[in-house]
Amino acid sequence: MLVPESRRDVVIIGAGVIGLVTAWRALQRGLTVTLVDPEPGSKASHVAAGMLAPVSEITYGEEPMLRLGLASLDRYPAFVAELEEVTGQDTGYRADGLLHVAFDGGDLASLDDLRRFQESLGVRAEALTGRECRTLEPMLAPSVRGGLLAPDDGSIDPRRLTAALLTAVDRAGGELVRLRATDVIVERDTAVGVRLAGGGEIRADRVVLAAGPWIGDLGGLPPDIVPPVRPVKGQVLRLKTTVPFLTRATWGLVRGSSIYLVPRANGEIVVGATQEELGYDTRITAGGIWELLRDAREVLPGITELEFIEVNASLRPRSPDDVPILGAAALPGLFLAAGHFRDGVLLTPVTGDVMAEVLAGGALPALAEAFTPDRFDKRARA
Ligand code: GLY
Repeated sequence: MLVPESRRDVVIIGAGVIGLVTAWRALQRGLTVTLVDPEPGSKASHVAAGMLAPVSEITYGEEPMLRLGLASLDRYPAFVAELEEVTGQDTGYRADGLLHVAFDGGDLASLDDLRRFQESLGVRAEALTGRECRTLEPMLAPSVRGGLLAPDDGSIDPRRLTAALLTAVDRAGGELVRLRATDVIVERDTAVGVRLAGGGEIRADRVVLAAGPWIGDLGGLPPDIVPPVRPVKGQVLRLKTTVPFLTRATWGLVRGSSIYLVPRANGEIVVGATQEELGYDTRITAGGIWELLRDAREVLPGITELEFIEVNASLRPRSPDDVPILGAAALPGLFLAAGHFRDGVLLTPVTGDVMAEVLAGGALPALAEAFTPDRFDKRARA
């Protein structure tokens, strides 16, 4: 695509789900928006399983993060309805709950803690016996000792979500430049645009960094403006079944180790995920695949009969305190939508709303106050 010559209101570096939803919501506010990404939707958005499970994914005590996740989950039905209506594309959204299953006494105790935590937040959670788990999912292993049903959780197909967001951005008049951004252009202490590989430039009043763990690679910025966001590798398998096998997203705690299985309507089952801090390494390893299949087989012994269709690895963007970085940076004109770590897909609707509000000149919504980039400056000064 040609690089637009006129100045834009907003240029966004990174067209995964976070960059795309920010673009779509900003376009709906009447802003002109250009996205820059050589391969839109090809990184974590392509590999993610798409579980929507705000309570399960966090560490106890991260209250603001929980509120953000629950707010995003609440927005999902209307968000998906609007996106599907605008694009005519199915996103694979399912609000049919998440089943946790446990194998030994320690796993059961962890699920009991999780249930009490969910109930303390007013989140529905139903404790189940092993037999009740198998009534819901007959293919579960006989050794499942008990479980927990979170009926309000769900899942979405992140590849379909990405495709729909790309269409929505296009229909709303957004531009997509399939080139790599090399630098943020800074003039008179203000971010004013993006320099592209090959030498082109896009000028804009607001520059948004939504490039996951690559935001630190951008040149041109003063030191310490961008908090360090580091990559955390996840290896993920995709299997295929032609017979009824698993009806809802299932999270196994297998003697302390964690595995999730997310079924799609087309018979695909996504199995994830490893969590490895190895820099930008995205190699698929025998050990990674073995670990996933070993734990998945404990949950669903019949899994070894399924067709193996894919294995991928991608990099989750992890901030220094594990939660997202949203809003204006200390450099005028610069904004961040970064560090979503394990929750990028869950947080897509709320991130779009928060970012569009600040990009349109509004106040930062209260539920995003704990996530501003300046929290790292404050800690450095403390
Ligand atoms: N949200 C699941 C994962 O990051 O593995």
